[in-house]
Amino acid sequence: MEKVLVTGGTGYIGSHTVVELQNAGYEVIILDNLSNSTIESVTRIERITGVKPHFENIDCLDYVSMDRMFASYGNISAIIHFAASKAVGESVKKPIHYYRNNVNGLMNILELMPLHGVENIVFSSSCTVYGQPDVLPVNENAPTKPATSPYGNTKQICEEIIRDLVHSGESKIKSIVLRYFNPIGAHPSAEIGELPIGVPNNLVPYITQTAIGLREKLMVYGDDYDTPDGSCIRDYINVVDLAKAHVIAVNRMLNKKLDEDIEYFNIGTGKGMSVLELVNLFQKATGVELPYEIVGRRDGDIVKVWADPTKANKVLGWKAETSMEDTLKSAWEWEKKIHAKEGAAAKRARAREASKQ
Ligand code: NAD
Ligand code: UFG
Repeated sequence: MEKVLVTGGTGYIGSHTVVELQNAGYEVIILDNLSNSTIESVTRIERITGVKPHFENIDCLDYVSMDRMFASYGNISAIIHFAASKAVGESVKKPIHYYRNNVNGLMNILELMPLHGVENIVFSSSCTVYGQPDVLPVNENAPTKPATSPYGNTKQICEEIIRDLVHSGESKIKSIVLRYFNPIGAHPSAEIGELPIGVPNNLVPYITQTAIGLREKLMVYGDDYDTPDGSCIRDYINVVDLAKAHVIAVNRMLNKKLDEDIEYFNIGTGKGMSVLELVNLFQKATGVELPYEIVGRRDGDIVKVWADPTKANKVLGWKAETSMEDTLKSAWEWEKKIHAKEGAAAKRARAREASKQ
């Protein structure tokens, strides 16, 4: 069985990817410092697949422990590097933490790979590298734009570091860089999903937490943009579909099918959806009414971005398959599983407050 190391494997996208890797017959080693996830993911993954992945509670910044881990497993065929800090707003406040965690973590891995004979790495990047594209849908040849946050900058810097290393001729490392658009939803089993800490920044967790009663209403950030209904447009991609793209990328590397030593792929549906369209679809898909209010624009928001996924469709043979309706239903099932009690309590507390006034 080929071994795949998944850094950040107890996190949101990582846990879904571990499931798909195991379903495809890979032996998975998760490496995570649990800074933004819990060990429970390992049990939940086992519940879905019947196989418990190896788990190492190690920080990617800890070179010595990583070195030991590589040596103890031996023969790792590929790495998928998810481990990173990812909150855009927090990155503006704590830039050094973001540069250290995201950039140094990758550097440690890239330094250790040749020492342990590992040649293949899939890197989690983001459509954030395109900024506001001049042409839509955006393809992989579009120029990258100056990042609007330290987080976005770490993704650009990490892409550049991998590119320079691959091109240096000093290394046998090959890489597939996946640029995700907006991952949403949860596993259909509702065993794993997104677990935002505190108040969610992202749209779908905010919607589901509002629907369950944890938040009073959704704030829609702006309806006066240059889009058909005035709200921003994104390409929302189902997390299981996204996870499957990683398995295809690993297969491609292990089968030595790469056209170039570093390849870039957009992972999106190719369809843009506005915030208001998504809100309406959520209500239709779940039958739950969603209180919302249009408020002012959010600083730094991209107005509209959606993928041209033709390259991933043709070269990887990957395509987004799950409907947005099913994806939103899966997010709702997950929300009900994790927050039903708290949501009901929060609703009752709000009703009590309202009756006092
Ligand atoms: P997540 O926070 O759920 O998962 C990241 C995991 O990495 C967490 O389990 C965390 O504990 C772990 N981690 C962080 N720093 C670590 C370190 N130094 N050592 C070991 N483990 C560490 O995030 P996610 O949404 O699953 O994102 C995974 C990757 O995809 C990240 O690189 C993120 O930047 C990228 N990405 C995410 C999105 C998105 O919208 N979710 C979009 C584009 C790209
Ligand atoms: N939005 C609201 N209300 C909310 C939250 C979001 O109206 O409460 C709107 C935003 O203004 C935006 C859209 O919903 O128009 C999507 O916002 P998200 O925060 O969910 O996603 P972003 O596209 O802003 O950013 C996300 C990740 C980034 C990543 C990027 C591309 O947060 O890390 O997708 O992958 F880089």
